[in-house]
Amino acid sequence: MNVRDSEHMIAELNSKEPYELTQELKEADLIIINTCSVREKPVSKLFSEIGVFNKYKKKNAKIGVTGCTASHLGKEIIKRAPSVDFVLGARNISKITEVVEKKHAVEIDINYDDSTYTFGEYRSNTFKAMVNISMGCDKSCTFCIVPATRGDEVSIPSNLIVGEIQKAVDAGAKEVMLLGQNVNNYGKYFTADQESCDFTELLQKISRVEGLERIRFTSPHPLHMDDAFLEEFANNPKICKQIHVPLQSGSTSLLKDMKRGYSKEWFLNRCEKIRTLCPEATISTDIIVGFPGESDENFEDTMDVLEQVRFEQLFSFKYSPRPHTKAAEFENQISNEIASKRLTRLQARHMEILDEVMDAQMDREHRVYFDELKAGGKISGRSDDGKLFFVEGSEELLGKIVNVKVTKTSRGALEGIVCA
Ligand code: 5AD
Ligand code: SF4
Repeated sequence: MNVRDSEHMIAELNSKEPYELTQELKEADLIIINTCSVREKPVSKLFSEIGVFNKYKKKNAKIGVTGCTASHLGKEIIKRAPSVDFVLGARNISKITEVVEKKHAVEIDINYDDSTYTFGEYRSNTFKAMVNISMGCDKSCTFCIVPATRGDEVSIPSNLIVGEIQKAVDAGAKEVMLLGQNVNNYGKYFTADQESCDFTELLQKISRVEGLERIRFTSPHPLHMDDAFLEEFANNPKICKQIHVPLQSGSTSLLKDMKRGYSKEWFLNRCEKIRTLCPEATISTDIIVGFPGESDENFEDTMDVLEQVRFEQLFSFKYSPRPHTKAAEFENQISNEIASKRLTRLQARHMEILDEVMDAQMDREHRVYFDELKAGGKISGRSDDGKLFFVEGSEELLGKIVNVKVTKTSRGALEGIVCA
């Protein structure tokens, strides 16, 4: 989502202001640091980065801080780092051209509605287009700062989404990645005139776009994975068979404390349904260890879900207390030592599972969409189920979907040869 926000800002600056992108820090007249704040680490990194930019930047170059850390720290950023020229919250990206010329502007209204705003055109990759379908989040998971930085949930009208996808397809994209905090809650909140349309119906509308071959989306919420949605996922040939199902914890009692709205059993039932309807699908997840009050037994529940679902991809984190969240006030915080041990054990077991999953890919064939040239005469792309492939080849494969046979496996990527 941050990558797409950055593209939107670049597009606005390109089309309405005399700015163009540079890879050279010393050439830049404007430096924008687009930030995350979901865990503590990126926040502290922000201030050290401002220091580095100050040291190497052109004398009069401006520095802007945007994104979620901008939303939650606001003018505090300018107080701590007076060299920062403007602060623009995650929900206020469309105002970039207004703030860029205003010294010490701070725009962080979390309920600013730009769900019908039409941004300028800029995409870092012409073959794959990211498209926002909603903004904000209507949940209140007790560990998560996002509702405080991205505000209330609003869905973007479906005709605007379809129009944007059509434009991207006309410009060469065969694949689209739909973005939202809870994509499968799409359609609950519209601010513009719009007939009712839920996520399953949106997927059906999007798959009618001619020339579009692949649809991905992130992130869906396990709570909203009803049967109709999972059947659409399994049966619609344009939908890539890769799905993110963020677990957070395998313990029903901890899930309650997290306010996730589902139980261990519901989660397992949804994953089983995905595996049954669509055995070729890969499932990825997010897990937090060391959430306040997490007992050994609670953690064993998480390990048990890992064992049963065998996620093909795992994003795992130590719990990080965040401002504006309920869990930061909980009394029974877990020591860093215990959280580290649990994280190490979880990741080590996942590595074993991943080795088995990837080894089993040897000699298999996948449809790979090639989208990036690499050094040494290689080209990379992804299979329908999201695996990263490297193959010997050049421009003639760019933007093509071809059959590839796996010749070498590793945890992170597969190598292969193009089948005749
Ligand atoms: N501490 C650790 N991880 C967190 N996440 C969100 N908030 C926190 C937090 N306070 C993780 C969740 C979420 C992912 C994007 O980041 O797993 O799904
Ligand atoms: Fe955060 Fe929960 Fe909303 Fe996801 S659903 S953005 S974890 S509050």
